[in-house]
Amino acid sequence: HADLDQAAKAILTENDQGGYTIPTKGLYPYQWNWDSVFVALGFAEFDQDRAWQEIEMLFQGQWRDGMVPHILFRKDDPSYFPGPGVWGTDGGPIPSSGHSQPPVAASVVHSLVEADRTGKALERAKALLPKLMAWHRWYLAYRDPKNLGVIAVIHPWESGRDNLPDWDEALRAVEVKDIGPYERKDTSHVDPAMRPHKEDYDRYLSIVAACRKVGWDPEKVAETCPFFVADPGVTFIFLRANRDLLALAEKLGMSAEADEIRGWIAAMEKGSRTLWNDEVKAHVAFDERRGKQTDGISSASFLALYAGLHDPQTLGALQGHFDRIAERVEYLMPSYDPDHRSYEPLRYWRGPVWAMINYMIAKGFAEAGDAVRAERLRADTARLIETGGFAEYFSPETGAGAGGGSFSWTSAIWLTWAS
Ligand code: DGY
Repeated sequence: HADLDQAAKAILTENDQGGYTIPTKGLYPYQWNWDSVFVALGFAEFDQDRAWQEIEMLFQGQWRDGMVPHILFRKDDPSYFPGPGVWGTDGGPIPSSGHSQPPVAASVVHSLVEADRTGKALERAKALLPKLMAWHRWYLAYRDPKNLGVIAVIHPWESGRDNLPDWDEALRAVEVKDIGPYERKDTSHVDPAMRPHKEDYDRYLSIVAACRKVGWDPEKVAETCPFFVADPGVTFIFLRANRDLLALAEKLGMSAEADEIRGWIAAMEKGSRTLWNDEVKAHVAFDERRGKQTDGISSASFLALYAGLHDPQTLGALQGHFDRIAERVEYLMPSYDPDHRSYEPLRYWRGPVWAMINYMIAKGFAEAGDAVRAERLRADTARLIETGGFAEYFSPETGAGAGGGSFSWTSAIWLTWAS
């Protein structure tokens, strides 16, 4: 594996822009939120100082209201659309997009503290803690304004799982307006068959236009955004992040913060039951505007375990789905159920396997006491990278690499876990 280790490190080093890392050249030329955070796990394997720096630079872009944006546009790059001009934001010190992305940062900060070899980790975690608290408070205030105990996304991009079938119906209900003519750049870097359709992009941009109209004011966005869907992915990642944040607060002796976080965890443990779909026997998305659940199992359904929800009913149902899906595809875990009508093995979030999702699902299975399925996910991820290279995502059927190449988070997940 020495050659793949070297290649993974070389990708991180090449995508390093001097303290922060881009996901891949061309397709994604800026700092992306959850990409960066996973990348820190990769750097931590050979340069822990650099790992901390990645996260610290992400938080340099934190907005005054606490939000940490999904993209930081530190410099203009014409190879990406939509750039800072389209977003029209003014919420923070660095030009950025107007919404967030899955909050994995507290969990990764916790991992960096646990793996520390520098003796400086607790000090660095302490400096980040108030920022993490502010971001988590922002999530609760503006992505769960009705205190349901689940986290909504105001845009498919905020979920990080852009063209997931779970968004289809809610997205079709978004009126296409205020977008003018535009030119996509993504399909000049990647085969259009692996990317979202134009009908999706029209609506992605219409949501941006609607939020820009209310000045990205978080309260108004929560009230008026045409898209507002509770996401099992963000909800479970956030619940897990709260547990890790609590562990950090306890370690640092911050008892007021610890009490506050305990309240969040209790509310979310209860609230996440509203995402349970008793017909499909898994957690699904819930369109808050229309009061409607979706009917498909996505790879995020398995993150219930990662969120610490491993009661026998949930664990048993997920083990059953795992084994059923394992009969259908060669490589786990497809981003959408291969038995669902919307499954497409190569189109981005409608079927392909993503390495960092496998990492989180496996952690959940291992913590629930299921070391066998956890190891299957690790071995499949390793085989995918051996077969398809350090691709953005992979076909669950053939293992072919898809989307962008020389991808940072795939390299990071190799280094920290899959190798
Ligand atoms: C894109 O441009 O496709 C990104 O996924 C948005 O975050």
